[in-house]
Amino acid sequence: MMDAAERRTLLAAGPFNPPWRGEPLLGSSYDEQEIEAAVAAMRDSLDPHVGFGFSASPIPEFEQEFAAYVGAKHAVAVNSAGPGLDIMMRYLNLQPGDEVIVPACNYQAAPLAVYGAGGQVVWGEVDEATLQLDPADVETKMSSRTRAIFPVHMNGLSAPIAELEEVAARHPHPQHGPVPVIGDAARACGGGYRGGKIGGFGFATVYSFHTMKNMTTLGEGGMITTDSDAVEQYARSVRMYGNAVEAWGTSNVMTKVQAAVGRVQLRKLDGFIADRRRVAAQRNELLADLPELILPAEPADCVHSYYLYTCQVVDAWAGPRRDALIQLLGEEYGLYCVIANPPVYQGRRILREHTPGQSCPRSEALAQRLLCVPIHPSMSPQVNAQVCAAVIDAVERLR
Ligand SMILES: Cc1ncc(COP(=O)(O)O)c(C=O)c1O
Repeated sequence: MMDAAERRTLLAAGPFNPPWRGEPLLGSSYDEQEIEAAVAAMRDSLDPHVGFGFSASPIPEFEQEFAAYVGAKHAVAVNSAGPGLDIMMRYLNLQPGDEVIVPACNYQAAPLAVYGAGGQVVWGEVDEATLQLDPADVETKMSSRTRAIFPVHMNGLSAPIAELEEVAARHPHPQHGPVPVIGDAARACGGGYRGGKIGGFGFATVYSFHTMKNMTTLGEGGMITTDSDAVEQYARSVRMYGNAVEAWGTSNVMTKVQAAVGRVQLRKLDGFIADRRRVAAQRNELLADLPELILPAEPADCVHSYYLYTCQVVDAWAGPRRDALIQLLGEEYGLYCVIANPPVYQGRRILREHTPGQSCPRSEALAQRLLCVPIHPSMSPQVNAQVCAAVIDAVERLR
């Protein structure tokens, strides 16, 4: 914690300029290495006998290095995480009525992938401490129609993949057998789980290299990892029209310039995460004594990548008071917090209409308490202290 005099000195600098956003528009950082890698890949492509395609070097190198990094057998590069999630849902060949369980507090991409592939979304509750899909709730929702469990590694922390796999193992599908656990790690690239990396466990995992994410390939990009040869073959084929597996496909390829940059970013990823963890650790200390805030949890078997620094306000501050806090922080301190994420069915009508009669009261209540304070690997200890001073000051003003 910091004393009042210290806080006044930190706040004297005035509102953040430029303001800090809940999800900064560049989640990692670039230097000459990325620029040189991109230019080299472009120069290499100028030869008409080489060009930019097809899935040419350094795309396979990036895939192999990424697979080795997360501890999976295969990695297949795609143009963004959304199509990667679509590919995984299409792989299941869902029939009308086939169910896929996704966490309610989620980004829209995973449930939309289920919907788009013709499946039935089943909303699962999330754990209040970690925000991850709750295996106990999933167990109550497993049915003879369940085709997959589809956790999101929410906000940089691993979902409890091992526990979800145990639930899946207890409820095999009558026709298809083992129910796969497919992870959306768009926000958690490089996070740790059970001594390895997210993606080292589970049937398949999808990552995003969008501009805001832990690492980025020129603003868009994604990867699918899996130990399954069949998934690898399918994904590699349908990202380019699906000839080899005689399935529907379209073009979802990554460019070699993106892959060249991705190889550099991947080498830096552990450093970015160490920096995010440094910011989070300092913040955990400075905000520790603020009774209105519950700070992010990190279970013993996880290494949080802190894509977001996800706090909760206590019950008495849920809803309007939390909203007032967000408004005050934005308007007067230039600190724009986000609520990541309320149940998707509250914000997306087509998904609400697709899941009539379903609701997740625990996740709805949790969403009233969420508050993600901006974090970035390049945030200096001084700026981070200013962020904490702003949060403490704003809470005290609203007490
Ligand atoms: C949890 C989650 N899943 C999927 C996506 C989609 O990622 P992309 O923008 O790479 O398609 C995002 C992006 O914001 C996300 O946060």
